[in-house]
Amino acid sequence: MILVTGANGNLGGRVVANLLELVGPSGFVAGTRNPESPFARKLAESGVSVRRADFDDPTTLPSAFEGIDTALIISTYADNSVRPRQNLNAIEAAKAAGVRRLVYTSFANASANSLAEHSHQVHYPTEQALIASGMDYTILRHALYADILVNDLDETLASGVFHRPGGTAACAYIARDDLGVSAATVLASEGHENRIYTETMERPLTSDQIAALMSEAFGREIRYEAVPADAWADYMTRHWGVPAHLARSSIGTMRAIEAGEFDVRTSDYAEITGHPPQSIETFLRSVASRRMSS
Ligand SMILES: NC(=O)c1ccc[n+]([C@@H]2O[C@H](COP(=O)([O-])OP(=O)(O)OC[C@H]3O[C@@H](n4cnc5c(N)ncnc54)[C@H](OP(=O)(O)O)[C@@H]3O)[C@@H](O)[C@H]2O)c1
Repeated sequence: MILVTGANGNLGGRVVANLLELVGPSGFVAGTRNPESPFARKLAESGVSVRRADFDDPTTLPSAFEGIDTALIISTYADNSVRPRQNLNAIEAAKAAGVRRLVYTSFANASANSLAEHSHQVHYPTEQALIASGMDYTILRHALYADILVNDLDETLASGVFHRPGGTAACAYIARDDLGVSAATVLASEGHENRIYTETMERPLTSDQIAALMSEAFGREIRYEAVPADAWADYMTRHWGVPAHLARSSIGTMRAIEAGEFDVRTSDYAEITGHPPQSIETFLRSVASRRMSS
C-alpha cells in the first residue's frame, strides 16, 4: 500500500490525482493534517482511505504509516528551524512501522555547501538521514517550480517587466503538474530503489530568455530587470506583501541562482515517466490559454 503525506497541498493534490489514475482509490492512502477538510472528505467519498499525518505531532504517525509499503514525504513550508525535526519524525515513524521505501521531495543540488538555506539546513540532512535509515529510498530533487515564474503574472503583464534575481545565470525549472506525474510514477512502480533523481526541464533558462518567451506566450513585450538577491526579500515584502521573515528565507535561494547552482539539466524526468517534461514554452502557453478562458 502507498501513502502520500501532505495530500492537501498543491503538489500533494497532483500526486493524488495521478495515483487515482495509476492505482485507483483503493491503491493508496492519503495522509493530511486535517482529515475533516473539504478536500479530505471528498477524497474519502471517492473511496480513498484518509489518515491524519502531522509531522509536528508524532503521535499521529504510527497509525498513518501502519501497513504502508511505500510512502511519499512531501517537505513542508514550515520554518527551516522546524523542518528537519518534522522530516526526522516521519522517517523514524516510517521505519518503526516497517515501511519498505520512502520517497522524499528534495531540491536540486541539495548539498552541505549550497547557498540555499533550505538545501543545507533541511533537504541535505534529510537525505542523509533517509539514506542512513536502512529503508529503501527514492529522492526526488526538484528544480525550481516553473509555477513561481507566474506568481506575479498580473504585475509582470501590467508593467511589462519581469523582476527576479539571477542576473545572467541560467536556472533549471520544472512544472509542478509534471512533478505530480513523476512522484506518482515512482510510488506506483518498482526499479526506483535507492535512486536520487534531479528533475528539470530539458534546458535551464536565463531570466532574459524567460522574459522573451513570456513576450511570445502573452503577446506583449516583456523585458527582464534584475533585482539583486540581497534586495529580493525587501522586494517581495513591498510588492507582494510577503511577511519579512518569510521573504528573508528565500535570499539564499536567490544567491544560489545568481551563483549558477541550478544551472543543471538532466533527463531524469524522462527516465522516470518515459516522456520529457513539458517545455517552458508549453508551460507558459497553457498559463496564457487558461488566463484567456477565465
Ligand atoms: N522546488 C521548488 O521551487 C519549490 C517551491 C515551493 C515549495 N517547494 C517545496 O515543495 C513542497 C510542496 O509545495 P506545494 O506548492 O505543494 O506547497 P503547499 O501547497 O503549500 O503545501 C504544503 C504542504 O505541506 C504539508 N504540511 C504542512 N505542514 C505539515 C505537517 N506539520 N505535517 C505534514 N504535512 C504538512 C501540507 O499537507 P496537508 O495540508 O495535507 O497536511 C501540504 O502538502 C513545499 O512544502 C516546499 O517544501 C518547492
